[in-house]
Amino acid sequence: MRPVSNLPVLRPEVRGLETLPEPPPRPGDGHLRDWALAPLPLVEEGARRAREGGGDLFRLRLGLPAVVGFSPAWNRRLLGDLQTFRSAGSFSRVVPYLSGGVILTDAPDHGPRRQVVNPGFGRRHLEGLRVRVRAALLPVPAGEFDALAWADRAVLRLLNAAYFGGEFDPGLLHAFLAPLRLPFPLPTVPRPLLFARVNAELRRLAHQRLTRGGDDLLALLAPLPGGLEETRVSLAAAHDTTTHALAWAVWHLAVHPDWHAPGHHPAVLKETLRLFPPGWMGSRRLARDLTWEGVRLPRGTLALYSPYLSARDPGLWQSPDAFRPCRWQAPPPAWAYLPFGGGERVCLGLHLAHLLILEALAALPPLTPVRGDPTPRPGVTLGPTGPLIVRRSGE
Ligand code: HEM
Repeated sequence: MRPVSNLPVLRPEVRGLETLPEPPPRPGDGHLRDWALAPLPLVEEGARRAREGGGDLFRLRLGLPAVVGFSPAWNRRLLGDLQTFRSAGSFSRVVPYLSGGVILTDAPDHGPRRQVVNPGFGRRHLEGLRVRVRAALLPVPAGEFDALAWADRAVLRLLNAAYFGGEFDPGLLHAFLAPLRLPFPLPTVPRPLLFARVNAELRRLAHQRLTRGGDDLLALLAPLPGGLEETRVSLAAAHDTTTHALAWAVWHLAVHPDWHAPGHHPAVLKETLRLFPPGWMGSRRLARDLTWEGVRLPRGTLALYSPYLSARDPGLWQSPDAFRPCRWQAPPPAWAYLPFGGGERVCLGLHLAHLLILEALAALPPLTPVRGDPTPRPGVTLGPTGPLIVRRSGE
């Protein structure tokens, strides 16, 4: 076939990753220091610069090529294209607590794995655990108390009830999960002796379920291949996420008492998770080169999506920084509200987290804020700086 004209064919220009906007780097360590010490201002500035240039992606220098996207289109692609965006090599890899089970399984094995573990965490099975969860609720103390410390203890008890019928040694459960809430890099430190004790306790309880039966989460997970690892890893994924969400929700109910009624709690929880998503940044690695909006992202790039940035994008939300549960009368913008992730890898414990948090909120008396620091402090998950001191209203 003859060319129609002699004019050269114009191909859209593909730029390199280094042409993406970035927050100001520091000489010597790029963004590593700010990422460790104050990541929220860092990524907010990156997003601002990306938006200013009309884009939805910015880069970070974290010792390897890294990009952060926050538009619905980016979120949808990252969460939907499991062949390109892989979990192996993501941040979960460096936290021994989260480095295993379904969290680190990639396509094509991930889907079948989820199908096996999903039923225990489905609404139907969880409904059967509701009475047990209610019985394990921790009453609020008399006088002033720290809602963050209270939520930590309450969630431990609730998880113990749902997973183990309350039979897991509470001291060991606390010792196991407490390091997850410590500042970096402490959650990344391997703790082989502690993990061995936890595994032994899991085996003891699993043996009881396998010989005598049961209906708690362990009873469903124990017979599965790798079921004890899924139990341990999902407990770790459950604990500080649910603790932080509950603590912030309690604080918001104390500050906005008009919203403290069971009928309003689902909207309060949604709004709390929009403003303060414990899973504030999700990570993947690119398994192959990808061209995104004219930029070539090489294989091996760390690809991040941010439920925090997407849920505060002024182009998508009205008054994004305001606490307004009434906004939930309408559906959120598609792929912009992702406190539990999305797609095939959506949080395994989404229904469990709702059950535990909404049951805990329903049992709370009216509260008054005393003093506190709810500003977010990132660690493995985003949590309130605390303390969050509240007391029963009228006391
Ligand atoms: C409010 C509480 C919770 C929040 C905000 C939360 C948030 C998230 C998010 C954002 C993801 C997706 C991560 C990604 O895409 O990289 C995720 C995944 C996951 N969550 Fe949760 N989570 C919560 C509670 C729980 C609970 C109670 C469990 C207990 C089962 C749990 C277990 C998991 C697991 C196992 C995954 C990995 C799923 C997969 O890769 O297939 N989470 N969670």
